[in-house]
Amino acid sequence: MNGELVVVDDVPGSFASRVTEAFAHRSTPGFSMALSGGDTARRCYERLAGEGADTVDWWQVDVYWGDERCVPLDDVDSNYRLAREALLDRVGAANATWPMRCDEGADPYQLRVGELGRFDVVHLGLGPDGHTASLFPESAALDAAEGRLVVLNDDPLARNPHPRMTLTFEGISRSRLVIITAEGATKAEALARVAADDLTAPASRVTSDRVIWLVDADAAALL
Ligand code: 6PG
Repeated sequence: MNGELVVVDDVPGSFASRVTEAFAHRSTPGFSMALSGGDTARRCYERLAGEGADTVDWWQVDVYWGDERCVPLDDVDSNYRLAREALLDRVGAANATWPMRCDEGADPYQLRVGELGRFDVVHLGLGPDGHTASLFPESAALDAAEGRLVVLNDDPLARNPHPRMTLTFEGISRSRLVIITAEGATKAEALARVAADDLTAPASRVTSDRVIWLVDADAAALL
């Protein structure tokens, strides 16, 4: 398994602590963070908005996304909207937000991420099918060309809605810290596959300078 597995009672609270710790120990001015989608992410961002309010100077934070559904940014399924509701509208304003815009194609985001160099934090979730970001099993993005950091992608098995834009594994790897959160029994099988280095579970292929898995006991039940 790539990274450190940490089983906790409170995944959202532990996530908020790890992010505020990373911010406090940042090695460069500013702080760049790529956000995830999903219900776990929503819970994590609501906690971060509360607990990070005093320890994270959001005026120094550049907010990116690790993936996005190709829907309008105000669509109920948009990861941008999720982050606005759960975090950004609660903390006031970030230094910059960089939403993924499918209508522009992946190249502008590719250039932006390339210019950034490294994310301070990339937050990812884990799907029951073993996906992370929008890197779905058997999808084209799993075999993105070397140098591609951002691509458009779909779920060929149609288990996840909407066309997507996503960081590739290479894009994710350009980070000082990746935090992957997973809660609940529905993630137990996928997490067991990751722990067994089953590469058919895309999340098994996540690497970066440091990878931390924050999971609860139900998600870890098969380990
Ligand atoms: C997305 C997410 C996706 C998510 C997982 C877990 O756009 O849907 O980026 O990768 O993190 O599917 O989602 P849940 O926390 O809702 O199970």
